[in-house]
Amino acid sequence: MESFKDKIDLEHLPKHVAIIMDGNGRWAKCRGEERTFGHKSAITAVREAINACNEIHIPYLTLYTFSSENWNRPNDEVDTLMGLISETLLLEAEQIFTKGLRMHVIGDIERLPTLVQDQLNNLIDITKDNTRGNLVLALSYGSQNEILNAVKKISTKVKNGDLKEEDITEEVFEDHLYTRNLPPVDLLIRTSGEVRISNFLLWQIAYAELQFLDVLWPDFGKENLYECIYNFQNKERRFGKTSEQLEKN
Ligand code: IPE
Ligand code: IPE
Ligand code: MG
Repeated sequence: MESFKDKIDLEHLPKHVAIIMDGNGRWAKCRGEERTFGHKSAITAVREAINACNEIHIPYLTLYTFSSENWNRPNDEVDTLMGLISETLLLEAEQIFTKGLRMHVIGDIERLPTLVQDQLNNLIDITKDNTRGNLVLALSYGSQNEILNAVKKISTKVKNGDLKEEDITEEVFEDHLYTRNLPPVDLLIRTSGEVRISNFLLWQIAYAELQFLDVLWPDFGKENLYECIYNFQNKERRFGKTSEQLEKN
């Protein structure tokens, strides 16, 4: 069977793909297992997504790994997730480096266990000169809080006379988000069949194409990602204009 990978136009790839990796708990439940079994089984899918993007050279991949709301889950589930994140960072660090990926993290990192924070900072540091692609982990991330913090930082600057109100542009605002230096999201994928955003990158997805898959995250593979990119390439992104205007260019 022909792969979607062969149908992708490599000249017109999305620059930034973001994924809401959802459905681990349901995947485990279907198998009569504990939710944490689903989280453990999700690592393969994470690897598939990273490798698929690396193979075709997607410049930015952001993975929604743990939301600010996920802190409200039962303590043992949160502990298992933190342990798994730490374990995975340890196991995958070398691969991330050798694949030429530069690591970034967005979110309220200070809430994470110190060990995880140290591992992340170390990985950010050792990969800072890598240029093949960017891997962004959203950890302890909540978009409303990110926006609120940006507003607070900007108002302090205005109050202190470091910034004039008339100079607050979209670019200035973006500079106060966790995602400063990252391009806007072109393609947002959510697995598990849920059609919602769950407090993810609200500002950054303003013009993203959204794709919701009926696949539970542990079952996600490269071919799913290639199919999403193929579908993305068959959309007309009009950014408010008409089709006729776009045809003229
Ligand atoms: C996604 O899977 C993983 C995290 C949110 C950390 P879930 O754990 O949300 O799985 P479901 O949605 O309950 O099936
Ligand atoms: C979103 O999934 C967060 C991550 C995938 C990390 P959730 O499972 O937490 O989302 P809701 O609560 O069902 O919307
Ligand atoms: Mg979920």
